[in-house]
Amino acid sequence: MRIVLVGPPGAGKGTQAAFLAKNLSIPHISTGDLFRANISQGTELGKQAKAYMDAGNLVPDEVTIGMAKDRMSQPDAENGFLLDGFPRNVSQAEALDETLKTEGMKLDAVLDLEVPEDEVVKRIAGRRVCRKDSSHVFHVTYSPAKQEGVCDVCGGELYQRDDDSEETVRKRLEVYHTQTEPIIDYYRAQGLVVTISALGKVDEVTKRAMDALSRES
Ligand code: AP5
Ligand code: ZN
Repeated sequence: MRIVLVGPPGAGKGTQAAFLAKNLSIPHISTGDLFRANISQGTELGKQAKAYMDAGNLVPDEVTIGMAKDRMSQPDAENGFLLDGFPRNVSQAEALDETLKTEGMKLDAVLDLEVPEDEVVKRIAGRRVCRKDSSHVFHVTYSPAKQEGVCDVCGGELYQRDDDSEETVRKRLEVYHTQTEPIIDYYRAQGLVVTISALGKVDEVTKRAMDALSRES
């Protein structure tokens, strides 16, 4: 399956993507995680992306689209993928459509995670991620690590993301409403959008998502 996951910052996209990708045997491709890996490795791409991310703005399309296409062309993505955080505006969605079309492929579904803004703020305020791999995600109250400050998966140090400050989160939410939400209408016109509530326990949301996706396939 080829799936796009969409939802506001802190909705639980990364958390759900990990389980959905495993259940569906497809790779989880997160542009946010790819950028953070580049930043921690000190690459040129990471240097370019960091200032935009810290300010809560989108990284320019010229950088992002190339990086996403490159990742999607890896052998493990041949039979499907779960995109998390990409596309994030209409021009990225058009670029993705174009790429898929030239390969004779198409998306199967766009899963839209709906969460009220006050819940999103609580989820982001308590989020801790692993320095070694930002796809290892915890929450101080909702899903605490067994040992405080230490990643259960790999033993890496847990920290608060630089863009999780109150001011940057406000900016990220604004960017989501103005630039990312329009892609939901773009995909709705293609009949691809499935909206689910992302409230409740992580496994309840995963079940809701799997049920919704199985109705689409
Ligand atoms: P990115 O990393 O994609 O951030 P985001 O979209 O803002 O999403 P988050 O990672 O904040 O949240 P999430 O929905 O994954 O939630 P999570 O699972 O962690 O992007 C960061 C930046 O990179 C962007 O601002 C931009 O600058 C740049 N960027 C990335 N892609 C780009 C693109 N395509 N174009 C341009 N720029 C791009 O969960 C949040 C917390 O809640 C966690 O602590 C978790 O444990 C907890 N939680 C999850 N589910 C539940 C639940 N059901 N109940 C209770 N707690 C829960
Ligand atoms: Zn880790």
